[in-house]
Amino acid sequence: MSEITLDLRGVPKPRAYEELDGHVRAVLDGVDDSITAMATMSCLVHHAFGHLWTGFYRVVAPELLRVGPYQGTLGCLEIVFGRGVCGTAAAEGRTVVVADVNAFPGHITCDGRSQSEIVVPVRDRSGKLIAVFDVDSEHRGTFDDADKVGLERTLGWFAGR
Ligand code: SME
Repeated sequence: MSEITLDLRGVPKPRAYEELDGHVRAVLDGVDDSITAMATMSCLVHHAFGHLWTGFYRVVAPELLRVGPYQGTLGCLEIVFGRGVCGTAAAEGRTVVVADVNAFPGHITCDGRSQSEIVVPVRDRSGKLIAVFDVDSEHRGTFDDADKVGLERTLGWFAGR
């Protein structure tokens, strides 16, 4: 089971995220490498839902995010805390759901097709912010509380390792 990428399009979100979480944890069983985990999660979430862009911006210096690992079109390489949706989620330490990126002040456009997004903070066992996880959609209003709950649970893997 753990060798395949699941396609969860069309599955109701709570069930899709439940299956995804089980799959991610099975694939990462015994893994103790955060980059391997980030690459694996980017791959599995991207292929599960087929959104435009899926991946991480890592905290590489105080107040600075750098892209990767990710799946999708070219991402901006660096984002300062407080800038755009990713920088806002990092600075405020909370998940940010944006239904229409054109209405979000300071949104950073990496791919002009992006219309909505969700950005989730990623913390290690000590509670330190190590990254944010960003998913971008070609459609408006793609993400809601079910995505927040589902992604936060799976990204909790980094705090549990
Ligand atoms: N839209 C993001 C930038 C990152 S990318 O879209 C991959 C933002 O405003 O933070």
